[in-house]
Amino acid sequence: MTSIVPTFKLSTGAVIPAIGVGCWMGVVGESQRVVDMVKSALRIGYRHIDTASNYGNEESVGQAIRESMIPREEIFLTTKLTGEDHGHVEEALNCSMRKLGVQYVDLFLVHWPQALLDNGEALPPDQSPTIQETWRDMEKLFNSGKARAIGVSNFSIKTLTKLLEHASVVPMVNQVETHPCLPQVKLIEYCHANKILVTAYSPIGKHKYATDPAIMEIARSKRVTEAQILLSWAVARGTAAIPKSEKIEHLERNITLVQLTPEDKHALNMLHEKPGMHRSVCGFHSPALGGSCFGWTYDLLGWDMIEGGIVPTK
Ligand SMILES: NC(=O)c1ccc[n+]([C@@H]2O[C@H](COP(=O)([O-])OP(=O)(O)OC[C@H]3O[C@@H](n4cnc5c(N)ncnc54)[C@H](OP(=O)(O)O)[C@@H]3O)[C@@H](O)[C@H]2O)c1
Repeated sequence: MTSIVPTFKLSTGAVIPAIGVGCWMGVVGESQRVVDMVKSALRIGYRHIDTASNYGNEESVGQAIRESMIPREEIFLTTKLTGEDHGHVEEALNCSMRKLGVQYVDLFLVHWPQALLDNGEALPPDQSPTIQETWRDMEKLFNSGKARAIGVSNFSIKTLTKLLEHASVVPMVNQVETHPCLPQVKLIEYCHANKILVTAYSPIGKHKYATDPAIMEIARSKRVTEAQILLSWAVARGTAAIPKSEKIEHLERNITLVQLTPEDKHALNMLHEKPGMHRSVCGFHSPALGGSCFGWTYDLLGWDMIEGGIVPTK
C-alpha cells in the first residue's frame, strides 16, 4: 500500500496530484464545514483542491488555505467558470481570485458547455457567447498567467470536437463524472489522444454502489475500503480524482491507493454491464428534467444517456 499521492503531468508540464479534495458540499454557500474539510485535507497531505464559483464557497476555501500556513505554490487549486459568466470570463476569474485570496489559479475550467442567462435559462449553442467565443477569452487568461492551466468540464466528444475546431490552446483538463458505473471509455480515449487529462468527479459514485459484491470482494482481499478500490482504479486508468469527504478517516483512506491486479481491473471495468448499473449517480439527471441537463438536451451535450442519466444498453 502506498500513501504517497501519485501525480500526473498536464500538457503545460505542470504537476497535478492524482487525488484532490472536492468541495461541492451538497449545498451552495460559504461554511465552516468547508474550512474544516479543506484544512483537514491539507494537514493530512492533500495538495489538490477542487472548487467552483457555483459552489459559493471560494472564500471558505481561501480561508482554509491561508490558515493551513502551507505555501500557496505547494497547492494545486482549481476553480470553475459558471454558465452565467461565459460573456465575462476575465471578470469572473478576477472575482474568484479575490474570494480565494490568491494571485493565480492552477486550473480554470469552463464548468459546463452551455452559456446561461442570469435567470438560468440556457442559450442555444449557436447564440453568442458561443463556446468558441468563451474559449478565446479563456485562452487570453492562460496567456496572461492568471490561470496557469485552462480546461473544461462536462464536455463530451461532441462538444470537445466543436471547441477544438477553433481553439489555439487545447484544454489541459476535462473534468467529468466517471466511476465504474459510468466508465466513459471512449471519451477518456479521445481525451488522452488529445493530451487532455481527465479528472473524475463523483469518483466513488457518491458511495452509492460501494456495497456491490465485486467491489467489496476486492476491498476485502486487500484489507482496504471500497472507496480506496474505486480511487485506485481511477488513477490506474490515467484519471485524476477529486473525492469529497468531511470525515478524517475517509480523507486519510482516500489518498492511500493500492495496486490492483489485472483481474481486479477487469472486474471493475465490467461492473457497468450488470443490469441497471450503467448510469450517472448525480442528481442533475433527474427524470423530471425529461432527458436534459441545465437547459440542454443530452443530444446537444453529446451524452449517450436517457432520462435519469441512464446509459441505454446497445
Ligand atoms: N464539474 C462538475 O460538474 C462536478 C459535478 C459534481 C462534482 N464535482 C466535484 O467532484 C467532487 C466529488 O464528487 P461528489 O461529491 O459528487 O461524489 P464523491 O466524491 O464520489 O462522493 C462523496 C460522498 O462519498 C462519501 N465518502 C467519501 N469518502 C468516503 C469513504 N472513504 N468511505 C465512505 N464514504 C465516503 C462522502 O461522505 P463524507 O463527507 O461523510 O466522507 C460523500 O457523501 C465534488 O466535491 C466536486 O468538487 C464536479
